[in-house]
Amino acid sequence: MEQAPALTPFPLDVLLGRIAHEWETRQRIFDLPTARFWKKADGVDLSMEFMGRPAATPVGPAAGPHSQMAQNIVLGWLAGARVFELKTVQVLDELDIERPCIDMETIGFNIEWSQELLVAESLEEYVKAWMIIEILRHWEPLKPFIGDDSGPYVFDMSVGYDLAGIQTDKVAGFMDSLIDAGPEIERLRPLIPEPFAEFRDHPFPTRVSDSLTLSTFHGCPPDEIEAMVKHLMDRHGLDVIVKLNPTLLGFPRVVEILQKDLAYEHIRLNRLSFVDDLEIDRAVDLITDLQKYAAGRDRKFGVKLTNTMVVNNDRDFLPADPMYMSGPPLHVLATSLLDDLLSTMPGTFKVAGHDGPVQVSFSAGVAKGNISATVGMGVAPATLSSDLLRPGGYGRLEPMLRQLEKDMAENGAATLEEWHQYSWEQARAAGFRGPAEAHMTDIVKGHGKKQYDLYAHEDPPRSVDHDLEMWGCVACNFCVTVCPNDAFFRLPTPEGSDMSGRQQYFVLAELCNECGNCMVFCPENGDPAQVKPKLYLDRGRFELGTGQGFLLRPDGDGVSIKARQGSEPEIERLDRLLNDPAEGLPVRAADL
Ligand SMILES: Cc1cc2nc3c(=O)[nH]c(=O)nc-3n(C[C@H](O)[C@H](O)[C@H](O)COP(=O)(O)O)c2cc1C
Ligand code: SF4
Ligand code: SF4
Repeated sequence: MEQAPALTPFPLDVLLGRIAHEWETRQRIFDLPTARFWKKADGVDLSMEFMGRPAATPVGPAAGPHSQMAQNIVLGWLAGARVFELKTVQVLDELDIERPCIDMETIGFNIEWSQELLVAESLEEYVKAWMIIEILRHWEPLKPFIGDDSGPYVFDMSVGYDLAGIQTDKVAGFMDSLIDAGPEIERLRPLIPEPFAEFRDHPFPTRVSDSLTLSTFHGCPPDEIEAMVKHLMDRHGLDVIVKLNPTLLGFPRVVEILQKDLAYEHIRLNRLSFVDDLEIDRAVDLITDLQKYAAGRDRKFGVKLTNTMVVNNDRDFLPADPMYMSGPPLHVLATSLLDDLLSTMPGTFKVAGHDGPVQVSFSAGVAKGNISATVGMGVAPATLSSDLLRPGGYGRLEPMLRQLEKDMAENGAATLEEWHQYSWEQARAAGFRGPAEAHMTDIVKGHGKKQYDLYAHEDPPRSVDHDLEMWGCVACNFCVTVCPNDAFFRLPTPEGSDMSGRQQYFVLAELCNECGNCMVFCPENGDPAQVKPKLYLDRGRFELGTGQGFLLRPDGDGVSIKARQGSEPEIERLDRLLNDPAEGLPVRAADL
């Protein structure tokens, strides 16, 4: 039997129709409540420059599950993200990734590292997200929640993983089509539906992205990295950031930090990955040469700390070995690497106290508890994946930004530059080389350590001794918030119904890639993505699927429901819930 694709994105008209309908019926957008929309605070300016481009906050999703589909990127933007490292695109776009692929039970592991869509679909997702954000930032009903000026934002492409791949017509065409997205925007423009008719002639900016973060996969030879950066600058005129791996710290230092200082003795490092990866001496030459190369061509160059850490799979969850570690311990490794690089190459990096030309972007265990210290080191942006995969999801960004604003305001910093200066002076007064060493010392040896070591992360998420059923559950809402694709939604249980629980939960099957994240966090026994009613909007996907599932077709003002495995009572319940005029299906039936 033909296999269903991992994901089937919703077209622009369905996404925009959903936004209008969801707003009207429940004042949420893609399930995010307005309390989690970010609005600039008075008196504190979080804006930064990303490779010379303005961004209203220094935060955003790292290349990963939160920057792959249009609704994911829009959710990040609503919650305050302003720099988006788009999910990595590579020429091999029909890889069969094993599932589940994400394990956030403790610190963070995964086994997926490039797009699950066809390259052409990824292009469409990024342009759709760009158009939706452009519409929403001008949409009057949102202004009370996001402000009159929600500020600039940057889409930063990510490609990998070798020179031959990025030179193919497919990947080169992808990059060219984001640098000038005019044709793609015009192709999508007729799909803007009635509730947003005022935007049908909107002058959407056509340059969606002209910077790129190169994802260097573990084991990518240094000469290949250099050749790729030069090619991207010369052939595509891009400003380029190279994403470095934590192996750059060297095997002994990683062992010392991870296993000795943080007590993750059970995590088995993959020694081969250190042999194959870039080493510090070569990295120093590479950074020096590429900065010179960029400056000679009026281009900008930066580094990103860091990609994930390769480790052997000693857990019983992900079906592949090795796996890739992210989250809290990676934060300690990346901070140490930053401190090492600053000592080895003084005056090179554009961070507090150095004033060099090379931008340092950061992605390693960024969370509310360390955002102020992270940004205080001068790195920008601070991007994240793992923390957004925890309960609260995209809604964790707004409190994170509020924390940064609060810390800045309390210490008299009105801008990020003033915050860097404050952090620098504090660190120097305490006898450190700078804020990177101060932060590293705190999280390896000081009070901060207890947020990063094994003992802080060994307890699994809470659980109750009950088997998950299609109807009713403890209604914790975790499946809705931990899903990066917003595949889950909930509806209140109707008065007098025979279903238990306050809320009922549903999966939009085409948006679920069976990553496993909702299963990890669901306190009941079972996989919500398999047990809760799977709703299909696409007949082809419905026919390819197996197990329980329901096809929705437009029917008058509502939907008709067809079950894959005949079950009248289930159809009756769904009919009552999905066709409820008060809330009902968040997608407009007319758009199906
Ligand atoms: C599920 C998952 C998928 C990821 N996919 C990519 C990818 O496609 N390209 C990439 O360069 N990095 C990828 N990453 C790495 C992240 O961009 C990030 O660098 C890393 O996870 C560290 O940040 P964190 O600790 O906040 O997760 C992925 C990470 C996760 C958790
Ligand atoms: S519904 Fe669950 S398994 Fe599916 S994509 Fe979302 S989190 Fe992953
Ligand atoms: S299905 Fe599980 S995760 Fe979702 S609301 Fe119910 S108990 Fe919570």
